[in-house]
Amino acid sequence: MPETKKLFIKTYGCQMNVYDSERMTEVLGASGYVATDTPDDADMILLNTCHIREKAAEKVYSELGRMKGLKATRPDLKIGVTGCVAQAEGAEIMRRQPLVDLVVGPQSYHRLPELEARARGGAKALDTEFPEEDKFEHLAARPKARRAPSAFLTVQEGCDKFCAFCVVPYTRGAEVSRPADRVLDEARELVDRGVREITLLGQNVNAYHGVGPDGREWGLARLIRELAGIDGLARLRFTTSHPNDMDDDLIAAHGDCPKLMPYLHLPVQSGSDRILKAMNRRHTADSYVALVDRLRAARPDLLLSGDFIVGFPGETEADFADTLALVRRVGYGQAYSFKYSTRPGTPAADRPQIDPDLASERLARLQALLTEQQRAAQDAMVGRETTVLFEKAGRLPGQLVGKSEHLHAVHADAPGSLIGQVVPVRIVESAPNSLRGQVLPDEAGARPIVSPA
Ligand code: 5AD
Ligand code: SF4
Repeated sequence: MPETKKLFIKTYGCQMNVYDSERMTEVLGASGYVATDTPDDADMILLNTCHIREKAAEKVYSELGRMKGLKATRPDLKIGVTGCVAQAEGAEIMRRQPLVDLVVGPQSYHRLPELEARARGGAKALDTEFPEEDKFEHLAARPKARRAPSAFLTVQEGCDKFCAFCVVPYTRGAEVSRPADRVLDEARELVDRGVREITLLGQNVNAYHGVGPDGREWGLARLIRELAGIDGLARLRFTTSHPNDMDDDLIAAHGDCPKLMPYLHLPVQSGSDRILKAMNRRHTADSYVALVDRLRAARPDLLLSGDFIVGFPGETEADFADTLALVRRVGYGQAYSFKYSTRPGTPAADRPQIDPDLASERLARLQALLTEQQRAAQDAMVGRETTVLFEKAGRLPGQLVGKSEHLHAVHADAPGSLIGQVVPVRIVESAPNSLRGQVLPDEAGARPIVSPA
């Protein structure tokens, strides 16, 4: 056995990075690392970074700057940068911040043990290749430890869409889908380890087209239907989707696959056809709304979530008004909105930029509307019966917290034995960022009603 060393990973950005950080912890387990939740006693610190907006990338350099003190007191400490900043900036990171020992891009995590050994030997280790081999296959050796009730599972990586603002096609590379049987095996293993809800991940997850055990290409709907057949798996979700890859079968799955939860993250970015064209989105505002209508026909209580960018180059007040109008037409239960951020190397970076103060002002107006909608969607849950997958203890004694079918955080008075169970709950109150529920007796009447506080 190699001697035990401590690994601290700080994760930025999307769920894909959360998943990758878990896998890196597991792969470095073979080199004797165990996870620690503080950088202070770590033998290696990895910053798993995000490059999607300028601020996200800048955070990495300020965090590295703060580590100078730690490195000065503990010269054996190894510091690495992984994720999309590593991919985009490569050796430049080591030039800008010489305390960095390792730089590893998202496609090379299976090579971490070798890179770590090189760094331990005193060399600088850099790998930002897009290797031919499948990193997921090499990352497959997993310890059998019990897992939290809800887990991510990456099924697809990369993107071929080339939206004019986005770095993902450059940092994560071309769209690649994992074979369906590997996904199914990993899902079964997660369920064996206590997982009840799986969120399938991909930068463009609904473009999934992995090869099935029958040798044919499977779409995401086919994969979801197979996953739904796994006993003990109660819930499925997927994120993030592009409107153009929402095919008939996937729309139908929202209506006929009970394990697929009624929540869908479907970014539109803008409500103006002119801006959508400039963004290279290849859909219109109307085609998006028509798609939403079809999804709601399949699953009337579907809660929609979206992403928006304001202040994209060339955006006029009229374009922005179209975005507000689209938001009013669709009605979002949840949304993320961003000020356009110039990303070097993307097509929009060279276009004339709009006044940042104007963009900030538009962002505030959009966020006010989205917050109002989010609150309304949450308030509408009060009085309804739903199910909650309890995940952990809540803030107050005797309380558990979990997720509703619509992905709202719900807390309720309930015994710890319900952690990891999907439990019928009546929603009794809506607070700013969560709901309060009351556990209902199960059908057999075996579970007592837990009285509210
Ligand atoms: N500026 C602002 N927001 C961006 N996003 C992606 N690239 C940029 C950018 N350059 C947003 C999009 C995307 C989400 C993940 O981040 O809304 O859907
Ligand atoms: Fe980026 Fe998503 Fe567009 Fe791909 S589809 S380029 S990941 S915004």
